Formats: sequence, structure tokens, C-alpha cells
Amino acid sequence: MENNKNKILVTGGAGYIGSHTCIALHEAGYEIVIYDNLSNSSKEAINRVSSLIGKPIEFIEGDIRDAESLRKVFTAHQFFGVIHFAGLKAVGESVAKPLMYYSNNVSGTITLLEVMAEYKVTNLVFSSSATVYGDPETLPINESSKRSCTNPYGQSKLVVEHILEDLATSNKQWNLINLRYFNPVGAHTSGQIGEDPNDIPNNLMPYISQVAVGKLTKLNIFGNDYPTVDGTGVRDYIHVTDLAKGHVDALRYAEHQTTPVGFMPINLGTGKGSSVLELVTAFAEVTGQKIPYQFTARRAGDIASCYASADKAKQLLGWEATHTITDMCADTWRWQSMNPYGYKAS
Ligand code: NAD
Ligand code: WQD
Repeated sequence: MENNKNKILVTGGAGYIGSHTCIALHEAGYEIVIYDNLSNSSKEAINRVSSLIGKPIEFIEGDIRDAESLRKVFTAHQFFGVIHFAGLKAVGESVAKPLMYYSNNVSGTITLLEVMAEYKVTNLVFSSSATVYGDPETLPINESSKRSCTNPYGQSKLVVEHILEDLATSNKQWNLINLRYFNPVGAHTSGQIGEDPNDIPNNLMPYISQVAVGKLTKLNIFGNDYPTVDGTGVRDYIHVTDLAKGHVDALRYAEHQTTPVGFMPINLGTGKGSSVLELVTAFAEVTGQKIPYQFTARRAGDIASCYASADKAKQLLGWEATHTITDMCADTWRWQSMNPYGYKAS
């Protein structure tokens, strides 16, 4: 088989960030194969991505912990690289079910890396998270800031980062682009795909949009006594389509290296923090919807402020976020109001 620089395996491609990235990859001329066990997503997301790009997408239902199933995929296709989104991501659930998180996120990644090595596919873009920075000592956070995590979800990302670093040291063939996302929000401008949490959302933006659409009655704001602009928590919200584009740029970066870069951590954020109240106000203004809220106690494990230095992404990848908070709210609302029950019919 020819080495196909255009073919990319997208693990977790049916999920929130993966589905948006598939569109960006298609627009950039890549051919996509999605591998997902649908544990936190639905086939309907893939159908919608297919109809948005105007062609069917190859989808394999499988688990990243299943080496035999992965081998079949790598035997059938010659990949340039893998974008690895597959994993579990709910912090609270990870505290209750740590083994499930380490099994999915750590063992699953090891199995994937082993199969990649067998098939000599050495380009990986990994979904890490700003959660690896814990409670930052200084802001904005750059890639050499201290890493520490307090919950099993965060630990699973940090452990994978260490595995990737060790792998890069052991063998100089790898391009391991480790993207640390800040707070992904928003949806595709078509309103056809977006974030579709099971049950009550854990994260702020989907919670706000479910209040706006009437599925939830009131937002609980976790703490108004943080040392921030208005006492509420500050985060670096980033539009999911900007994030998606970052993955395309990361692949291009890997493609253009004459010597493999090894482990390369890169923040994907806007560099700008917004408070909970600022986001609520922006959402209400942009959408004309009322967002009733009340202040409650701080949520365990939350930090006051977190925002990125996005300089390295600009320098190395030529990437920077282009969407504003207004865009993020408008696009979230379009998706939510067009799909009040997410991908489910009702
Ligand atoms: P998501 O849950 O929507 O997507 C993850 C996808 O992976 C889902 O489709 C799920 O079915 C699949 N999956 C899970 N375990 C699998 C397994 N063992 N085998 C095969 N498929 C499996 O989540 P998302 O928000 O799109 O996040 C994608 C990645 O980015 C995750 O690794 C997450 O930890 C990371 N991340 C997310 C955020 C965020 O706030 N959304 C922030 C930082 C990092
Ligand atoms: C944002 C702000 C809350 C909900 C989490 C994960 C992190 C990463 C992104 C994967 C905070 C406040 C929230 C609510 C609220 N995911 N809030 N009421 O905690 O920054 O990050 O998602 O890697 O690992 O921890 O995001 O959206 O949950 O919270 O007041 O109902 O909104 O206190 O200040 P967080 P979030």
C-alpha cells in the first residue's frame, strides 16, 4: 500500500470535538476513518457530519482497548496519523469510577500506541487538557507551567502525557502533538452538530443553554467569592471550530517536519479569560433568552482562574482562535434551539 498522507484515523470521532474536527479535516482535504465505541455519542452525529460534508464517512464501531479490532482497521487502511479523542471526560464520574477512567483513557491509549507502532504509524495528535495544570501558580498558563492533578480524569491525562514523553525519548520516530484544550464550547454554524451531554450537564455552557431552552429551570453559579473580576470563576472558553482547526494545523505541522519532534505540548486557548457572570450575560444578550441563576457554594476541586498563553500555537502551528464569546453563545444557542433533545428525536 502507498503511504497515504491524507488518511487520518479519528478515534472518538463521533463525539463533540471529534465530529467538528472531522468537518475541518474534510475541508482541508483529508480522508477520515472514525473509530468510536459510541459510549458517549451517537451514530446520528456521524450521519450529520456525512450530510454536512456531502459524502459518506467510513465508521468502525470499536473500542480502543481492543487491539485485534484496531489491527483490522490498520490492516485495511494506510494512515498518515491518528487524532486520538477517544476517552471519558467527566471529572465527577472519574472520582466515583477511577478504574473505568484509567482503563479507557490510559490502557486504551497504550493499546492504540502499541498498534500504531506495529504498523509504523508515528504521527499522533492527542487530546490533553488544561486540567493537567491543576491550580496554576501564574497566569496566563504556558506549556512549561507546573503540572498537577487532583482527580482521576486529570490524572489519566497526565499519565498519558508522561507515557508519550517516555515513548518519544525511547524512539525518535514519533511526532506526538499533545494539545491541551482549555474550555471548548460552541457548535458548528449549521446548527446540525454540537455538544450533546447525557443527563444533566456538568459544564457551564451546556448548562446555560439547557436553562435557556427550558429543560433546566435555573443555573447554579458555583461560588461568587473567588478573587476574580466579579467573584465568579474565570475560564478560557474556546470555540469548538477553532479547536477543530487546531488539529488540522497540528497534522500539517507534523507533516512538514524533516526530523520528528517527539513529544510536543501545545495549548489551544484564546488567551482571554471570561467569568461565569460574563458568559451568562453574553449568552442572554446574544440570544434574548432569560437565564435565571442563583449563587451556591463553590464546587469541590474548582479553581479561581485559568487561561492560556496561546503564543506557542501561533508560533509553531500558525494557529490562533478567531471566534468571540458572542460567536460561541450564538452558535451554542442555534444548536440547542434547533435540537432541544440533542441527537435524540425527542
Ligand atoms: P466526547 O465524550 O463527546 O467524545 C469522546 C468520544 O470517545 C465519544 O464519542 C465516545 O463514545 C468515544 N470513546 C470513549 N471511550 C472510548 C473507547 N474506549 N473506545 C472508543 N471510543 C471511545 O468528548 P469530547 O468533549 O469530544 O472530548 C474529546 C477528547 O478531548 C476527550 O479525550 C476529552 O478528555 C478531551 N478534552 C475534552 C474537553 C472538553 O471540555 N470537552 C476539554 C479538554 C480535553
Ligand atoms: C466552568 C466555570 C465552574 C457549571 C472542566 C473540566 C476540565 C475540562 C473542561 C476536560 C467554573 C462554573 C460550571 C455550573 C457553574 N474538561 N460552573 N455552574 O471546570 O473549567 O473544566 O471542563 O478536560 O477538565 O474540569 O469547566 O464548564 O465545568 O466550569 O458555576 O453548573 O463555570 O465553577 O468556574 P471547568 P466547567
